[in-house]
Amino acid sequence: MEHRVALLGFGVVGQGFAEIIQQKSQRLMEQFGLNAKIVAVSDVIKGSVYHPDGLSIPELLKSVRETGNINGYPEQEGLIRGLNSFETIQRSNADTIVEVTFTDVKTGQPAIDHCRYSFEHGKNVIMSNKGPVALAFGELQSLADKQHVRWGFEGSVMSGTPALRMPITSLAGNEINEIQGILNGTTNYMLTRMEEGLSYKEALMEAQKNGYAEADPTSDVEGFDALYKTVILANVILQYPLKTHDVERQGISHLTKEDIKQAKQEQKKWKLIAKLKKENGHLIASVKPEKVGLDHPLANITGATNAITYHCDLAGPVTLIGAGAGKVETGFSILIDLINIHRKQL
Ligand code: HSE
Repeated sequence: MEHRVALLGFGVVGQGFAEIIQQKSQRLMEQFGLNAKIVAVSDVIKGSVYHPDGLSIPELLKSVRETGNINGYPEQEGLIRGLNSFETIQRSNADTIVEVTFTDVKTGQPAIDHCRYSFEHGKNVIMSNKGPVALAFGELQSLADKQHVRWGFEGSVMSGTPALRMPITSLAGNEINEIQGILNGTTNYMLTRMEEGLSYKEALMEAQKNGYAEADPTSDVEGFDALYKTVILANVILQYPLKTHDVERQGISHLTKEDIKQAKQEQKKWKLIAKLKKENGHLIASVKPEKVGLDHPLANITGATNAITYHCDLAGPVTLIGAGAGKVETGFSILIDLINIHRKQL
């Protein structure tokens, strides 16, 4: 069955997703009967093309690689250029909008408005942006439900590692009383490298060079990135309407090489731990560096890897370890949401 997709944004994640759709087309068809077609791409900087019968992914990628934009996409009868994001949502025949624009996590915009507009026009939305889920989960999910459309955001926490779908589907029936995680790759990478002798500054520079850090690394090192993910987990997994200001937050910028060395002597490690714990009907939420013993389930998570432990009343503690970022991994998070929308599963 054909599933038409429009991409808002054609940066790293958008291109990663397009490459996956291209490479996996035969497998998606054989395994799920899914014929995913990109009908539109609209990017504020790179340009915009729409064809109701579908666009050529190789031509899109060729144009962006050669010229940095998609204005070089070949002319063709019926091709429409220049639609902005809202026009693309309204006028294209896409079933699903893949929202991969740059989002300001403080306001969640423009992605929140893209979601609202898509739902109002009867279109599903898939995104990896944290902003709309952390800031407007209740409102947007209600609107999606009312409009009988789907909203996928698996990639907003731990990219393609199923930090949201696993507890929702495979741990269903448990009461999850506590969640603990390493949800930010940059800081975990930095702490690992500092254990190996690097200074804070050197470790941050390496993390930036490796592409783990956000455009403004303050969000990583001061714990905001992990905080947004913590709010998403509270709302989506624990059904608790936690807000960003409810979370106690401290980053790692005050930690020195000496602090790391001292912990090592005590057979401990500093980790930036995100925590959600149910206590007497309340939810205690924090993101802060903690000195953990070497037997702690998160102590041996090194480098940019993320991990999360769900403490379940029936299944016990279940820990999931995997990537928290990356072009292919985040591209996959979009794909898995698309597959599940197509096969009408969560
Ligand atoms: N900057 C983030 C991290 C990327 O380091 O984990 C994914 O949100």
